Amino acid sequence: DNQNRDQWGSKIGLILAMAGNAVGLGNFWRFPYIAATNGGGAFMIPYFFALIVIGLPTMLVEWTIGRYGGAHGHGTVGPMVYIQAKKAISPKKAIILGSVCGAIGFGVTVLVNSYYTHIIGWSLGYAVNSLTGGYVGVDSGAFFVNYVTDPKNLIFWIIGLASLGWAVMKGVSEGIEAWAKVMMPAIYVFGIILAVRAVTLGAPVNPDWSSMKGLNFVWNPDLSQLTSASIVTATGQIFFTLSLGMGIICNYASYLQPDEDIVTASVATVALNEFAEVILAGTSVIPISYAFLGPEGIKGSIGLAFMALPNVFTTMAGGRIFGAVWFFLLFFAGFTSAIAMYNYLVALLEEELGVQRKKGALLIFVLYLIVGAPIAAEGIITGEANLIYFTEVDNWIGNYLLIVLGLLEVITLAWLVRDDGLVEMNKGGLWHVPKWFYKLFHQFLTPICIIVFLGIFTRDYWIAGNFKITPSYINGIEYMAPWVNAARLVVVVVLIIGFIQTHRAIKRK
Ligand code: PHE
Ligand code: NA
Repeated sequence: DNQNRDQWGSKIGLILAMAGNAVGLGNFWRFPYIAATNGGGAFMIPYFFALIVIGLPTMLVEWTIGRYGGAHGHGTVGPMVYIQAKKAISPKKAIILGSVCGAIGFGVTVLVNSYYTHIIGWSLGYAVNSLTGGYVGVDSGAFFVNYVTDPKNLIFWIIGLASLGWAVMKGVSEGIEAWAKVMMPAIYVFGIILAVRAVTLGAPVNPDWSSMKGLNFVWNPDLSQLTSASIVTATGQIFFTLSLGMGIICNYASYLQPDEDIVTASVATVALNEFAEVILAGTSVIPISYAFLGPEGIKGSIGLAFMALPNVFTTMAGGRIFGAVWFFLLFFAGFTSAIAMYNYLVALLEEELGVQRKKGALLIFVLYLIVGAPIAAEGIITGEANLIYFTEVDNWIGNYLLIVLGLLEVITLAWLVRDDGLVEMNKGGLWHVPKWFYKLFHQFLTPICIIVFLGIFTRDYWIAGNFKITPSYINGIEYMAPWVNAARLVVVVVLIIGFIQTHRAIKRK
């Protein structure tokens, strides 16, 4: 039943599309501020641990269930998990498991875009402002507040969304793959230009803040900074950056030939993503910010990419060009990842509800306008850039939803399907995942570590009082509470819709 499914056009196109899926705002916007906030080098220890013990094994699982699902006519994670699970457990239980997975896949690909597409829009807007000198000589914090509170700037968001819709409409090989072939090489070239600029920057502001010291901050761990919160955050970042726990890797893998080498391809995807994150972002964004902001100033927030870096570009020689290079890089990175989420939902409409691709792309465009509305509104209504709704949605996704879906996928393959899961993974592979690896990681360390980390996070969050109706981190700023609660309500509603929809789709098949 996979006769009419679209397929990747070429091997290099497939790898670039997968890398495009993984390499995103997570690498260049999320990683630098998260690493800096969690102690720099001290963060890198749990980060690499999570990469090897959780990230790589989960990546292999997603390719495996994705390729198998595609061969059986499925492009979404709910039915994919269902057809694996029903090999081992009763159809009733398998439907529940599949529906929970489908609910999270749907939930994340909808919810991430309540903010992700806005950052894509900001990147485009900031790229234009870099070229025209729009933020030169303006305090970059004030510029950012003005930017997000001015409704005119929503035009960049809409241009971004429309371009995404147009690309997805063209299909897998002619749309997604074609864009990835142009944008991915550009991302690496731009990243290298910025990294070279960063290490040759010296100490322009304070003799103690050289960019080399900034590099040292990332690579020289100060173990006193290592906390249980940073361990959990590192795991969340690994899921986010590798696009795991949302179904979009499974979806891309569903367009593979049945004997495509997925072992090599998943390792290549992880390597390309980590090069962009640790080497390029770690050697450009962090040292540049450090050189201009110092060790305290770099502990930025969500705004590091937009508030700290423009400051840097206005004072740097050739700043307009470097600014444009940086923001176009962000735009391309975000675009090639958002395409994957967009395509997931279009595939869902196509395969589970019988909506044709063109119409589906249009419907998702409208859906993304709706789910993105609260963030547009928060800036405009409050006149501030606290982005509370945004932060709340990102917290639940990054710390819970992705991790829970990843856990369920690993459990399905490694604990339910067991040894046949490894056979399926190795089918067509140039080299094979050894049995000891599957036993040690997939069947033991990976799921156990995820469960332990989920427990730690829940405990920390509970102790911090963040489960309360007015969470502690609001610090008595009253108008923020409704935005937090609105975000939570939307998360719950989207998950329920996803569950019901997936449940019906699986039953119908
Ligand atoms: N992995 C991508 C990134 O690093 C994109 C992504 C993140 C996609 C979260 C979906 C959800 O930005
Ligand atoms: Na990434």
